[in-house]
Amino acid sequence: MKRRAFIKTSVLGTVAGVFTGTVQAKMTTPSEVEGPFYPITPQKDQDADLTRVAGKEGIAKGEIIDVFGQVLDTDLKPVEGVTIDLWQANSFGKYHHPHDTNSAPVDKHFQAWAIMQSGAEGQFKFKTVIPGAYPLGRNQQRTPHIHFKIAKNGYVPLLTQMYFPNHQLNEQDGLFRRKSVAEQAMMTAKLVGKNNQYQYDIILEKV
Ligand SMILES: [Fe+2]
Repeated sequence: MKRRAFIKTSVLGTVAGVFTGTVQAKMTTPSEVEGPFYPITPQKDQDADLTRVAGKEGIAKGEIIDVFGQVLDTDLKPVEGVTIDLWQANSFGKYHHPHDTNSAPVDKHFQAWAIMQSGAEGQFKFKTVIPGAYPLGRNQQRTPHIHFKIAKNGYVPLLTQMYFPNHQLNEQDGLFRRKSVAEQAMMTAKLVGKNNQYQYDIILEKV
């Protein structure tokens, strides 16, 4: 796809879906708590393919997906050179973090953490697996989500979580439920096409 077409599709695909009517609120991507499992174990392989770990033969277990999108400002202009730092549970719902006491197994072929920069048109893309849900206390579960820390000088830093569309656990998730419908829409990736391609655009506020 040509660059211009990519931008247009992307912007219309996500933002217009949220802001119906005549008011273009240009809302930023809502923030969410960091959670306890930001990675603390140094890791050399932080590339955009989380389904493979450098130096190991094998592929992560679970349903492989691509997540792509653009980082935009509130005027919907692409933002280049944004640091996108993301981490998530593996397909069993286990974080590769020493403080995660969930009995679900570690997946030695899952990278679990990636850091990348947005390109000239604000674009980014990574390959991963759908994270598993995990228990929270006795009778709650976190719905599948990916954590993001997003930063660039001149923009308000953003900590957030990305959700999956129509997941059965979304409506039971304490954090997800607390958001308004418009916020939920901005925090939820869109499934596009048939090949496990998810679109997730991020809107940052200038300082
Ligand atoms: Fe989490």
